[in-house]
Amino acid sequence: MSGPEIRVFPTLEELSREAAARFAERAREQRSGRAFFAAALSGGSTPHRLYEFLADPAWDIPWERVHLFQVDERCVPPDHPESNYRMIREALLDRAPIPLENFHRLPADLPDPEEAAACYAEELARVLQPKEGEFPRLDLLLLGMGADGHTASLFPSTPALEERRLWVRPNFVPRLGACRVTLTFPVLNSAREVILLVSGGEKADSLRRVLEGSRLVEHYPVQRVQPASGRVSWFLDAAAAQLLTTSLERE
Ligand code: 6PG
Repeated sequence: MSGPEIRVFPTLEELSREAAARFAERAREQRSGRAFFAAALSGGSTPHRLYEFLADPAWDIPWERVHLFQVDERCVPPDHPESNYRMIREALLDRAPIPLENFHRLPADLPDPEEAAACYAEELARVLQPKEGEFPRLDLLLLGMGADGHTASLFPSTPALEERRLWVRPNFVPRLGACRVTLTFPVLNSAREVILLVSGGEKADSLRRVLEGSRLVEHYPVQRVQPASGRVSWFLDAAAAQLLTTSLERE
């Protein structure tokens, strides 16, 4: 199997524009055989600019045929400053002609996070309709990476890392003293395509360990992102990529 695509951009601005171009191209071509394109969006700060770019009509994204899910959510109300939904709404949903029913919010604000996870799994099943016994297959997954090597809300040494059956589950993160609800690795690794967006010098050291060090998935959960029949691309800015030693396509 060939390794991941690794692209390095001078700044987050260029990285975001190229990631938007890739998203738009995939949404327009839609090769899955389904009537719509299904993507899942991460939270955090890195994809904010990308989502703003996506709202630009120049990309000609057929939004009526695009369904958007969330990769993960913090257990806070949807208008809370830490809500991933709020960030996505402000950057993208309020600015692009996305039909309301095409955005599938992760209801992590429900009083019981287990119930929130179960509801979201039902929503994935309703829209994506995987075959019996299979995991839902997203066409594109936009992920981030924390300086501690987490992706989605799959943090080092937390119980959700070992999930093999459930599609969505709560994950208590002791370091944050907070609960999050997240897609699980079986769903991440069923995607057709994954783009990992990493920006900033504070992630340079862990990125080097993740991409060039040994496999230590308990420490660096992002190393587990290996879709069985999907493509993985890393979109990095120069600051994040500064310690990588392998020869890279720099743009
Ligand atoms: C979240 C995420 C998370 C994020 C990384 C990177 O809710 O925070 O979805 O996995 O992608 O923590 O976050 P930054 O982009 O803020 O560095």
